[in-house]
Amino acid sequence: MKPMGTIPADFAGAPLTIAGRSAADWVAMAGDTPLFIYDRGAVEARIARFRAAFPDIDLHYAIKANPFAALLAAMAPLVDGLDIASGGELTMALAAGKAPQTISFAGPGKRDDELTAAIKAGVTINLESSGEATRALGIGDRLGITPRLAIRVNPEIELRGSGMRMGGRASPFGIDADRAAAVARDVIASGADWRGLHIYAGSQALDAWAIIDTQAATMALAGRLAEEIGVMPPLVNLGGGFGIPYFPGEAPLDIAAIGAALAEALATRSTALRDTRFAIELGRWLVGEAGVYLTRVVDRKESRGETFLVVDGGLHHQLAATGNLGTVVKRNYPVSIATAAAGAPTEVVSVVGPLCTPLDRLADRVTLPVAAVGDLVAVFMAGAYGVSASPTAFLGHPLPAETLAEHS
Ligand SMILES: Cc1ncc(COP(=O)(O)O)c(C=O)c1O
Repeated sequence: MKPMGTIPADFAGAPLTIAGRSAADWVAMAGDTPLFIYDRGAVEARIARFRAAFPDIDLHYAIKANPFAALLAAMAPLVDGLDIASGGELTMALAAGKAPQTISFAGPGKRDDELTAAIKAGVTINLESSGEATRALGIGDRLGITPRLAIRVNPEIELRGSGMRMGGRASPFGIDADRAAAVARDVIASGADWRGLHIYAGSQALDAWAIIDTQAATMALAGRLAEEIGVMPPLVNLGGGFGIPYFPGEAPLDIAAIGAALAEALATRSTALRDTRFAIELGRWLVGEAGVYLTRVVDRKESRGETFLVVDGGLHHQLAATGNLGTVVKRNYPVSIATAAAGAPTEVVSVVGPLCTPLDRLADRVTLPVAAVGDLVAVFMAGAYGVSASPTAFLGHPLPAETLAEHS
């Protein structure tokens, strides 16, 4: 038997209820499994928690975490900005109704057509290289539009303990800190609309102190750069990296402690940042815990003493839960039998998907209520990097349905 992560407190009940309705009801309304359900109230609660902890900091949503249209439309009015990473995400962010000047576009390898669309729409481009700066300025000239440009900095800092480090090393992301001021000065001298700095050091950190140290160092770096540039950045995006507890033994992040420390760093910031606004950009922390992936048991089988529940969903929709998206060791996300009654007898089972690869394992030897063909299996922590981060075309299975659940 192997342990699994903790089911988020937003979800309870046996049988499982999501936003006040049973999982079986949600499936009946959607028509079929597999189904992703995103609990709107759970997302709103995270946004409110952020606001309470960071009253003076803007909140941006990194839509790569979950760009489901109904979810984006619900979140757009509640956050101060949307961060996008492609021309496709630009279309989605604009469709969600967010004002272009609150949208920022980061990511290496922006094509000319993506830069053109961004400049025409009037969104901020976070420049990843001096070459990209030259191309954006040239496109702006040809269109007769002043581009809104910020510099993404590749910081010396790395976010300790983060699942994905994006600073402190040679990188495709951002302009090295020691060259960033020179590129910023060129951009400003060329007449661009200077929007400031974007400094992103890593993702999925659960150690509040690591984030506190990184934010303090990021604030100091932004101050040094602003002094060197000589023009106050209107906005400094301090990055994010707030993690969520997917696995056994992990605990939620203490964001009140991070907020208190950042307030102190703000109070003592360089005068070169006196009138600068600051933003934190979050993806999974806002939406990850709010999502549940529901699949149905199609087969139940024994093999060499082990029991397998074979379900109609798998890594083609929820790659991360199978341990194949950026994890080295396979550990279990929280899962449950959504249709099981309280006190049902339990057994040790593995939950596997329909793909013919041993990688398609949603849960490995976990203790769950005894389930039969037709029962629903819930995989929690499914609100971020689910269907949009999974190989959906692999083996030709249909796409899952997605629903934004409103509390009834
Ligand atoms: C620039 C940038 N912003 C935001 C994110 C979102 O990260 P998370 O979902 O961990 O908050 C990422 C993750 O890759 C990123 O690279």
